Amino acid sequence: MQNFLGHFPQVRMRRLRQNPIIRKMVQAYHLRPEQLILPLFIREGRGVKHEISSMPGIYQMSLDILAEEVRCVESLGIGGVLLFGIPEKKDEMGSDALSSRGIIARGIETVKKNAPNLLCVTDLCFCEYTSHGHCGCLTEIAGRTDVDNDATLKMIQQQALVHARAGADLLAPSGMMDGMISAMRTALDAEGFSHLPIMSYAVKYAGSFYGPFRDAAESAPQSGDRRSYQMDPAALSETALRETALDLAEGADIVMVKPALAYLDILRLVREHFPGVPLAAYNVSGEYSMVKAAAQRGWLDEKSVVMESLLGMSRAGAGILITYWAKNVAEWI
Ligand code: PBG
Repeated sequence: MQNFLGHFPQVRMRRLRQNPIIRKMVQAYHLRPEQLILPLFIREGRGVKHEISSMPGIYQMSLDILAEEVRCVESLGIGGVLLFGIPEKKDEMGSDALSSRGIIARGIETVKKNAPNLLCVTDLCFCEYTSHGHCGCLTEIAGRTDVDNDATLKMIQQQALVHARAGADLLAPSGMMDGMISAMRTALDAEGFSHLPIMSYAVKYAGSFYGPFRDAAESAPQSGDRRSYQMDPAALSETALRETALDLAEGADIVMVKPALAYLDILRLVREHFPGVPLAAYNVSGEYSMVKAAAQRGWLDEKSVVMESLLGMSRAGAGILITYWAKNVAEWI
């Protein structure tokens, strides 16, 4: 290595950094609008555009506003939107998520009608729909209340069909239930949706970076936390490889690592072990709010910090970037 690289003064690294033209010539990573996915929060009502206090610039919106929003997103050349539904009424089983007239089903129809060239991606989970705020239905296990994995799989199957029939283009299950991909695949294939791809939240850590999202989606667990189903940040990093391998074996088409910034090592690890698999990074709500807060105080330059962070995710191996800044980034590129 040392031999063929040479050393100073023959070698001067600054030669290729001296002006923008030469820097651009050797640039290796480029952000593209088509690789971006913008998360959107939808709710009932008309003319509703409610800013989330912990996420300045991000809104809960009713379907009429969604229609305008997705036309704008499409015109920016952005790849897709990721829909999260907030139902009027929540219950133990998250029934709104299972109804063909529920908020998410109508949201999907709205996106497809108004922005046919946008990929309509849907988050498949129950925490936004259940009164208890957990990602499935509850049961007693060994003296404690927990999400019932296998009963939730049946609900996920129904939910997947609701999204598929409404016209979703890509389903993104985020509940971290064991077997969720094969359960979905079986249900989808049996009903004529074998062409519909799945982007699995394969590697999703239980952590504190989802706080602002839970304000946005009104999905904070009413008791306990998500540590019995989401991953432990202190677990062996190779656990991420097992999660990924399982989801791929079950038929996932794209895998995701979430959050992004504190988990760039995990992105890299997954990238290197599964070179042929499209990989997404979710630049989550807490990552958004931290930068926004600092930028509002004049402590950080928002644009350059965001672009630098997304480049970091790209270098780590993510080809698909899910970010609340998607619209800004598309304009900045
Ligand atoms: C739903 C879900 C969550 C996020 C995406 N899908 C929240 C959670 O797991 O509590 C978080 C996204 C973000 O923080 O931006 N299960």
